[in-house]
Amino acid sequence: MKTTVVLSASLVTIAFSVADLTSLAGGQTSVAQTRRERFTPKRPAAPEGPARFFYIEGITTPVQALEKSSHEARAGFDNLSNGLAPQGPDFEKINEDNVNPLASFNDARFVFEDVETYADGLGPVYNAQSCRECHQNIVTGGASQVAEHRTGHTEGEMFFESMGGSLIQSRATAPDIVEHVVDTDETRTFRMSTNTLGNGYIECISDSTITAIRDAQPEEMRGLAPEVPVLEGDGSARVGRFGWKSQHGSLVSFAADAYVNEMGVTSPLFPDENTSSGTFVGYGSGYDPLPEPDDDGTDVEAFALFMRSTKVPPRGPITDDVRLGQKQFGAIGCAVCHVSPIVTAAAGTPINGGAFIVPDALGNKIVRPFSDFLLHDIGTGDGIPIQATPEFAETANKMRTAPLWGLRTRNRLMHDGLSFTKYDAIERHDGQAATVRDAFNALDDTQKAQVYAFLDSL
Ligand code: HEC
Ligand code: HEC
Repeated sequence: MKTTVVLSASLVTIAFSVADLTSLAGGQTSVAQTRRERFTPKRPAAPEGPARFFYIEGITTPVQALEKSSHEARAGFDNLSNGLAPQGPDFEKINEDNVNPLASFNDARFVFEDVETYADGLGPVYNAQSCRECHQNIVTGGASQVAEHRTGHTEGEMFFESMGGSLIQSRATAPDIVEHVVDTDETRTFRMSTNTLGNGYIECISDSTITAIRDAQPEEMRGLAPEVPVLEGDGSARVGRFGWKSQHGSLVSFAADAYVNEMGVTSPLFPDENTSSGTFVGYGSGYDPLPEPDDDGTDVEAFALFMRSTKVPPRGPITDDVRLGQKQFGAIGCAVCHVSPIVTAAAGTPINGGAFIVPDALGNKIVRPFSDFLLHDIGTGDGIPIQATPEFAETANKMRTAPLWGLRTRNRLMHDGLSFTKYDAIERHDGQAATVRDAFNALDDTQKAQVYAFLDSL
């Protein structure tokens, strides 16, 4: 927005990075270390109350245990608030001059859709001008076909990010600073833009619920619950759940990360501009007109408020085939990882290292994301860890179980978007999902068609 201004920076979402350790030369090392320190949690995850209800067919007690006081999360592709933020003034009448970023759903949506320019702090290196460019399908906040690339190289077990970070920015405000992948960075992947609708509910799932899901999974299919920093919290880590690697646990942290790494807009949580393949292009370099931070943190809070106030992706029509397909999906073991339903923490529970209290609108709600938010090795790992540090090395070849809600709105599947059909996506499941894939292949054609009907209803 006009009120924000400024600079830009380096990787994306996740990425906190060590990328900088490898990319910044000499004199910049201390900056890099400061960043690295910032992204190292000072203490382990703090308690977030007891584990809540979740269901895995054949493993947990069925739905009678679903607490009577829990209510379904609100669903809809309708640009309406889930009840957290008030709906606010007529969206069409909001403009740069009268927007009140944290006042309502419509105001926060305006900020999420706002197109940044050079004068606002876009770039110098960036991927797109607005959150909506990559998160809009069916409505603002959804997933999209936009893919980014992430690269680096691997020596032995250790991953090294590309100069300038594993996220390659594909646009810049000047032609000579566009980032290019070098021949030697042979660890390469695409990452598709994921859905953010309903993620406020996901943020309100307690760590204890996610680790209870992990502990309920049979050992050979058990997921990994990475603990990641919450930048706005008291220093406690949190179980990650957002992004293809579950690299963030909080929507404020993710939003600040995305703002600098996708759009080049710095904010208090991410005050350093990205480099262009290791070359400083921030304020003072001649490429960046604005001193950091470009945003005082208001935009970042507005992005988080918007996402927290969105409804979950709604289901399509539920036919008999859909019901039968869901039964097959559970019976053959897809639901061990693609978990549903899950109940969010009670209202009033402090989460995010004390920085957020679960609100009434999001607490004690039943969500059906069809994900455990854990990392698994199903043979599709892209070789790029959450951070290029030894403690995250085991995440290099694991991916988060893709939440299947909203699946019918996506036609490029898996993290790299290289699976064109549901069948292709299922056949790529190997490793921890190999036996389940084999069980799918053993179904007869009618049963397979039912599974597809179920997937098409999500
Ligand atoms: C250039 C495209 C692009 C832009 C612009 C962009 N994103 Fe994203 N977003 C992505 C991609 C790609 C991912 C998955 C990244 C990954 O996990 O490696 C993602 C993931 C996310 C997620 C995690 C959702 C989940 O559960 O997986 C959140 C939250 C998010 N973005 C918020 C934002 C916000 C807020 C903005 C604006 C400041 C923004 N994004 C701008 C491409 C984009
Ligand atoms: C061991 C855990 C596990 C099991 C079991 C499992 N999946 Fe997955 N699934 C994943 C992971 C992890 C991904 C993301 C992989 C990637 O992007 O590289 C995924 C991705 C998908 C996707 C792509 C979604 C998208 O938005 O791109 C579909 C569809 C899918 N799974 C369906 C199934 C079906 C159907 C079954 C049962 C036959 C199944 N899965 C069993 C872990 C699992």
